[in-house]
Amino acid sequence: MGSTAAASVLPVSAGSGENLVLILDYGSQYTHLITRRVRQLGVLSLCVSGTAPLASLEGLRPRAVILSGGPHSVHAAGAPAFPEGFLDFAAAAGAHVLGVCYGMQLLVQSLGGAVVPGERQEYGKMDVEVTAASSALYGEAETGKRQTVWMSHGDEVVRLPEGFEVVARSVQGAVAAIEYREKRFYGLQYHPEVTHSAQGMETLCRFLFNVCGIKADWKMQDVLDEEIKTIQSTVGPDEHVICALSGGVDSTVAATLVHKAIGDRLHCVFVDNGLLRYKERERVMTTFESDLHLPVTCVDASEQFLSKLKGVEDPEQKRKIIGREFIAVFDEFAHKLEQKIGKRPEFLVQGTLYPDVIESCPPPGSGRTHSHTIKSHHNVGGLPKDMKLKLIEPLKLLFKDEVRKLGSILNVPDSFLKRHPFPGPGLAVRVLGDVTQGNALEVLRQVDEIFVQAIKDAGLYDKIWQAFAVFLPVQTVGVQGDQRTHSNAVVLRAITSEDGMTADWYYFDHAFLVDVVNKICNNVRGINRVCQDITSKPPATVEWE
Ligand code: XMP
Repeated sequence: MGSTAAASVLPVSAGSGENLVLILDYGSQYTHLITRRVRQLGVLSLCVSGTAPLASLEGLRPRAVILSGGPHSVHAAGAPAFPEGFLDFAAAAGAHVLGVCYGMQLLVQSLGGAVVPGERQEYGKMDVEVTAASSALYGEAETGKRQTVWMSHGDEVVRLPEGFEVVARSVQGAVAAIEYREKRFYGLQYHPEVTHSAQGMETLCRFLFNVCGIKADWKMQDVLDEEIKTIQSTVGPDEHVICALSGGVDSTVAATLVHKAIGDRLHCVFVDNGLLRYKERERVMTTFESDLHLPVTCVDASEQFLSKLKGVEDPEQKRKIIGREFIAVFDEFAHKLEQKIGKRPEFLVQGTLYPDVIESCPPPGSGRTHSHTIKSHHNVGGLPKDMKLKLIEPLKLLFKDEVRKLGSILNVPDSFLKRHPFPGPGLAVRVLGDVTQGNALEVLRQVDEIFVQAIKDAGLYDKIWQAFAVFLPVQTVGVQGDQRTHSNAVVLRAITSEDGMTADWYYFDHAFLVDVVNKICNNVRGINRVCQDITSKPPATVEWE
């Protein structure tokens, strides 16, 4: 990509310097969850690779560092460890260090204790008992009491380093929590961040607020103010910025924020590629122009895209063609803009989110290499190679729900913020095979609209992660109005999901389905059969192509 990152935005918000929690990631599937839990408590947390060189932490003065869990054994060759000098760095910053699962074992081993392959491997729910008369992590009131926690360990701590004390044990006798208050070291053998740990959030709160003395001062309004200042100081007074709007939440919130910072020196483009949903172009343009007052050029490039897609059946080929055409349209937009304003735009806004940033720096031992390319999957359209644009990524430290909160402060309409995700290649991956065959796209739009509107009318839209229709290039025999028909079949798909990585199909009640199928068959010409996809992910994916 021909772009470079503009000014680093670490740390983000006012006050975050004093109340920052740093998470060192050793590859646990729950690491993001710890980061999110801390933020939900109103404290900024940042997640970095557990083996990141110390230099990359320079300038950060975390009040707490949480060493995450991970799938490794501290005894395995090449097991990840914190960077050389990390404990001195933490001590100099006055940071409290909490090791969770693998993180606790790492701490114990590094400080001279012993961790061995456990006789009692503990996975899943387990009761632990607070054994210490007075412990920082639990408080006196919990002494002698039991709580259910989520364990996941094969190795076990059998000897503590000097100065440490066991403050809780599992009912099987394994060390469950340790402390060395004078040195500000703490450890939990279980996952406090998962809901199965009944009092996990209380323990996390005690650690952050009582033990570390952190203040919950991380607010979305501060993030917004800080980002606006950063953008204003990054973009010079006569420099211009461009942004491609997809109609999705991320690019819309990013553009709205940049617009607030620099006004009409932001230039947005929305491309109608002929693969949009029913009335999508009109609907999003109304939001952009009337609600958000964004300066947007709408380019109708449907002919250009559809002519290139004629006869193409392979889904990956479709994605490549759409990506290429998008770049061509974007390039032309930038060119015309340059002629109009008499100078080259310097910056490009991207709605990159924190999970993409973390994903491009995978944890040690994950088998994935470090790369700063965001999955091509989520970057359809990519960036023109020869445009030397600097990136502005105002959302790059935020999770999706945080972006929604930010959008809400920026007055992006709630209905827009709650929209289901829509894939970059649009309906091209929902008309199986050649998208230009007959009037498949138009038929699909109508079916999709009836289905989604019915979901909205039934008050189910916010319970469902994604709902859409798929056009099958097969003709089936039917009987409509006393006549035999030979028409197409469509599939309805609705799923629930946390993040799109795994998904369950949504269970509609009988009356809802009867009504939707009637509406579709009675109103959409060319459809005589409606199926529902009841496959989860895995084994299926969300989209059919
Ligand atoms: P899959 O089909 O991989 O989809 O289970 C997971 C999520 O990603 C969306 N998706 C895409 N998004 N470009 C995108 O921007 C794509 O090529 C693409 N393919 C799938 C999908 O809608 C779901 O939310």
